[in-house]
Order: sequence, then structure tokens, then C-alpha cells
Amino acid sequence: MKDAKTFKVKNICCIGAGYVGGPTMAVIAKYCPDINVFVVDIDKQKISNWNNKDLNKLPVFEPNLDQIIEKCRDKNLFFSHEIEKYISIADIVFISVNTPTKVRGFGAGKASDLKWVEACARQVANFARNHTIVVEKSTLPVRTAEVIQNILEIAQRRTKENNEAPTFDVLSNPEFLSEGTAINDLKNPDRVLIGGNNNKAIKTLSAIYENWVSKDKILETNIWSSELAKLTSNAFLAQRISSINSISAICESTGADVREVSRAIGKDTRIGSKFLDSGPGFGGSCFKKDILNLVYIAKFYGLNEVADFWESVVNINTWHQSRISQLVIKNLFGTLAGKKIVILGFAFKANTNDTRESAAIQICKDLINEGANLIINDPKVSSNQITHDLEMEQLNTKLEENSFYNNNGLGSWSFSKNIDIEIFEDAYAVLVLTEWPQYSMINWKKIAKKMIQPGWIFDSRSILDSEEVKNAELNLWRVGDGS
Ligand code: UDX
Ligand code: ADP
Repeated sequence: MKDAKTFKVKNICCIGAGYVGGPTMAVIAKYCPDINVFVVDIDKQKISNWNNKDLNKLPVFEPNLDQIIEKCRDKNLFFSHEIEKYISIADIVFISVNTPTKVRGFGAGKASDLKWVEACARQVANFARNHTIVVEKSTLPVRTAEVIQNILEIAQRRTKENNEAPTFDVLSNPEFLSEGTAINDLKNPDRVLIGGNNNKAIKTLSAIYENWVSKDKILETNIWSSELAKLTSNAFLAQRISSINSISAICESTGADVREVSRAIGKDTRIGSKFLDSGPGFGGSCFKKDILNLVYIAKFYGLNEVADFWESVVNINTWHQSRISQLVIKNLFGTLAGKKIVILGFAFKANTNDTRESAAIQICKDLINEGANLIINDPKVSSNQITHDLEMEQLNTKLEENSFYNNNGLGSWSFSKNIDIEIFEDAYAVLVLTEWPQYSMINWKKIAKKMIQPGWIFDSRSILDSEEVKNAELNLWRVGDGS
């Protein structure tokens, strides 16, 4: 009887093979062996990397993702750039494309750029053949479903004239996965949210998730609530991080320790202990973008105080990053000119190769602007990505002592694949920006001997053993440590 209440699903197409589309479709393919899952993308290189035999070359690094790809790829999980072909056979199309903040025009700096979503909706409108459920997976501003619906309706009217009218349902099914733990988050979600107007379409999508998620975790809402819940969820999480980061500054001034404060407040079950780690400022593709979307919506509806409230969460984050850069400068006697600084970690968090909005980008730019020569290590981020993010080529030749004077006061950066002792030679400071576990195993005694004295260690993630660093006779700054 279940089938009578749901549409039949044989083929799924996901447009966008990025950090959301790739892992999400891999998990659907794993738990739904009878459904063919086609992940399509306009980026041919990315598709070819998804199809690479060498699983280390997959475009997204996520723990345990490679195992699923190995098991399902070319069985019921396919990566292709033939977008039209797979839209035309799909019963469900997931839209999982990027929605960055607009850089120009109305709403620039706040509103999301929907050009990719619109392009997808038009592709679906042009190539769908039968009944198709279109699912918004990307984080989108509230009421985007309406835009998609409108585009699909135009297509319907046009094709009706040719006697071959596909029909559509639009659902919102936001993704709550967190990078670095995406596979686990997808396998064991806190909840799955499905917003829509048509019960049969909602039940169809729900039935897919029911293959591995218990029914009580699948929430059905109206479409606008679903869209807004996604933005609100990210805004609340980001707000907690800005809150604790703001308290870290008070701790440093007053002699308190932010870790102790976090532990104490986290024991209050009304507050809870998660997302209370002070760090270098939140990064990632979602938090800033989603808050700015909320700000834009609030302003649009004349709710200026609401807009200001949420905007301050982003402003504190930016301030916090520059606070760290300034601390480094201050402790290195007010000048970084020609000084070598080792940067440990460039990804916006551990266990991902993603650098979008990483605090490391702004902090490294600040230090380079002050004349520092950076050696940057990250176990998963490529040097090409860093070049792109810093908008600056790396120094290929061996660092020259006087490179500062050759470059009009601008510093430089170069990449190190490893954290061998040589990279610390003559460094004035080491800055930990990502909480990769290997950094907490570094032997500081050995490194101290290589560094220029007084050597400084700046631990923005609180992952180092402070006693070990101090015993190595290095100066230590830890975020929020007023002691
Ligand atoms: C986030 C949401 O968690 C996820 O639900 C949503 O689907 C996408 O956006 P993500 O950006 O992958 O996920 O990572 P998240 O773990 O939320 O971390 C975001 C940033 O906050 C990182 O820079 C992280 O280092 C930082 N963070 C997180 C802290 O500084 N302190 C914390 O306690 C937690
Ligand atoms: P996210 O973190 O949301 O997954 P990504 O940038 O990692 O974002 O992935 C989005 C993907 O969507 C990119 O690989 C991009 O090439 C792809 N994309 C964008 N627009 C289209 C489109 N019109 N058709 C197919 N793929 C698209």
C-alpha cells in the first residue's frame, strides 16, 4: 500500500557534485541499492576526479567517503557531466549547487546569488520528461522554492502546447551535514527536514530516508518553514561561536580561562556543551552566508533591529580574526617585517580540505601585509588552493632573509607538505589555525632549538599541551587563556 501513497523512484539525479551533493548522494546510494543515483556537474574536471580510480584524488575529502565510493560507484552511483540526459530520466532531481553571496548589484555582500539555482531550474524545466520531484538541497534564501516553482510552471505551460507536459513538485530538504563528519551525520542525522505542499511528494522523499533513518526523526513542515529552519539553525550555531569568542577576549583581559567558562556553562542542560569551543573565528561556506541571508531578509521586511542583531554575529567574527593577527604582531615586538612564521592548518576546520571562509585566509593575509614570510602546512589543502585564497603566488625560491626589502614591505608565503623540523628553522612564531590532531603531537623541545628566541606559539584552537610548550621554553598564547 506504501506505493499507492508515493511516487515510484527508480532514478535520482543530483545537480552539483560538491561537498554537499557528493557525500549525500553516496549515502543515498549505499542505503538504496535499488535506486540509480546520478551525480552531475558542469565541472568536467571535478567529475573526472570523482571517477578517478585513485580514491585519494576524489575532489572532496571526508572520512569514510572513499569506502562508500569504492562500494557503490558504477553499480548504482554514477558521476557524469551529461546533465540533460540524467535529468530526463530522473524521478527526483536534487539541486545541490553553490549559492555564494552576491558580489555586485542589489543585495551585494548579503543576498545569495541564485544564478546557479535558476540555471538548474531552467535545465530541469527543459529536460524533465515525466513527473519530477525537484528537491532544494543547497542552502537557499527563504522563498527560493517559489522561484523554482515559477520557472517549472513556465516550462509546463510551454510543453503542454506540445502535448508532453512533465509535472513537478518542489520540496525543500536542507542538508545539515557538517564537513569532516559528513558521512556520520548523513548516516545518523539528528533530523531530516522535508518541507513541501504535496503530501505524496513528501512521502516519496521520506520513504528514501526511511531506508536508514527512523521515522520519528523525519520532520515534515511547510516549505517556507523548512527553508527558514536551515538558515536559523546555522545562525544559532554561529551565534554560539561568536558568543564564546567574545568571552575569550574578556577571559584574556581578566585572568579567566575560556575553557573553564565553556565547561561551566555547558553543564547547564538548557545551554548544552556543544559548539562552545573558542577558536580563530568560524569559517565554512554556510555560517556567514546564511546569517547574511537572514540579515537581508530582515532588512527587506523593514526589521532593521533584527538585521543588526544577526549582523553583529558576523561582525564579531571578523573582529575576532583581526584580534588574533594583531596579537601576533604585538607579541613579536610590533613588527613582522621579514620574520618567518609557521602556519599550521589552513582548512576552516579539521578533517576537510575545504578552505571556504577559513579564518586562516584573513589571518595569513594580515601577516603577509605586515611583511611576514609564512610557511603554511595543511595535510589536506593543496598549495593551488592556498594561492587562490591568498590571491598571491607562493615564493618558489628558498626564502631569502631580505625578501621583505625586495617586495616593498609585502611578505610572502610558501607551502610545506610536511611538518618536519626543518620548516621551523629560524621561525619567530608558530600559529595553529586548524585543529588537525597531528599538530598536538609535535615535539616542542626539538623545535624550540631551531626557532629564533624568544619563540612564540599561538594556539588558536587550544589543542597543544601548554605544559609541554612552556617546558620547551617557548612563549605560549592560547585563545581565551587569561592565566
Ligand atoms: C555547518 C553546520 O554545522 C551544518 O549543520 C550545516 O549543514 C553546514 O554548516 P560546517 O560549516 O561543515 O557545518 O562546520 P561546523 O562544524 O559547523 O563548523 C563551522 C565553523 O565553526 C568551523 O570553522 C569550526 O572550526 C568553527 N567552530 C565550530 C568553532 O570555532 N567552535 C566550535 O565549538 C564549533
Ligand atoms: P556545496 O558546498 O554547496 O556542495 P560546492 O561548490 O562544493 O558547494 O559544489 C557545488 C557544485 O555545483 C560545483 O561543483 C559546481 O560546479 C556545480 N554547479 C553549479 N552550477 C551548476 C549547474 N548549473 N549545473 C551543474 N552543476 C553546477
